[in-house]
Amino acid sequence: MDGRADSTPNSGGGIKRTQCTVERSPRPTRHGVTILPPSRAPTAILTLGRASRRTTVIVPYLLYRTARAKVGRDCDIFSVTPQDALRARREPGLVVLEGFHAVKHALRFGAELLAAWTSDAAALEDLRARLAPDVALEATEVDANELAAVVPRAQVLAVARRPRQADPDTLLTAPGPAPVVLLEDPRHLGNLGACVRVAAGAAAAGVLVTGGLDPWHPDALRGSAGLHFALPVHRLRAVRTGDRPLVALDPAGERLGGALPARAVLAFGTERDGLSADLLRRADARLALPMRAGVSSLNLATAVAAVLYRAVVR
Ligand SMILES: C[S@@+](CC[C@H](N)C(=O)[O-])C[C@H]1O[C@@H](n2cnc3c(N)ncnc32)[C@H](O)[C@@H]1O
Repeated sequence: MDGRADSTPNSGGGIKRTQCTVERSPRPTRHGVTILPPSRAPTAILTLGRASRRTTVIVPYLLYRTARAKVGRDCDIFSVTPQDALRARREPGLVVLEGFHAVKHALRFGAELLAAWTSDAAALEDLRARLAPDVALEATEVDANELAAVVPRAQVLAVARRPRQADPDTLLTAPGPAPVVLLEDPRHLGNLGACVRVAAGAAAAGVLVTGGLDPWHPDALRGSAGLHFALPVHRLRAVRTGDRPLVALDPAGERLGGALPARAVLAFGTERDGLSADLLRRADARLALPMRAGVSSLNLATAVAAVLYRAVVR
């Protein structure tokens, strides 16, 4: 079975009466806008997500016209409430941003915001004017309880389109001395996000991650303060390094003294067990940040920060 739901803005700029026949496997219109009433949206969003490779777009009703102008024909679905951010978290084409810093950084690095909600538009505008006057941010005001049900503490919640970024092979072949950070099977999304944040700060070429965590998970985005938008971040099925030298960072390695090789893939291990034997075998060098006797290792993101700044500040 398939179904479709279509609606078009009327000439007065509002929304025409929606004709909606959503069946069990709705197909998004190929070049149109699919609008679903909130009561049907939850099921339909999930089904659309599975049925289509196209991005599902979720915006609040009030932003309909702005969003329509922005995303135009790429738009598959519109919905209406912050609750939809919960579903957007499961959509690979969408990114959920929680909190002002995440939204600010994402916008600064070119994010296309599809929706933003706050419970206090005046306070958010004060914050924006004080901390990020370079950024334009419009958020729909919603009830504080409605927002808190989705994000308990964030002042602003937003849904952005996942950016198109250089794929891992393009990233690995990129010229220029900037290193690539490789995180082997990290277990903590906050840590992973903090690594992305420092990689962005140190102008690394990108971050590659192996293992089970999705590096674009909202908790990782919170950890990176939205800086996933500043550089390519990808999950790899298996370690690959292209023609770059592979440097393993390992507390049991040789003391990091001289310069790191240009264009290196800098590999960091999992929080408890460190780098795998396989990666250590493949590495061209195995280096350690010196530590005081008795300290067995640094936190993953701290080690990434120390090594990256060593690599980029000459
Ligand atoms: C929390 S540590 C893992 C500790 C693990 N028991 C080990 O021995 O590797 C996570 C990762 O941070 C990096 N790291 C931590 N301290 C380091 C140091 N002093 N020198 C080099 N890398 C370090 C390594 O890549 C390590 O795999």
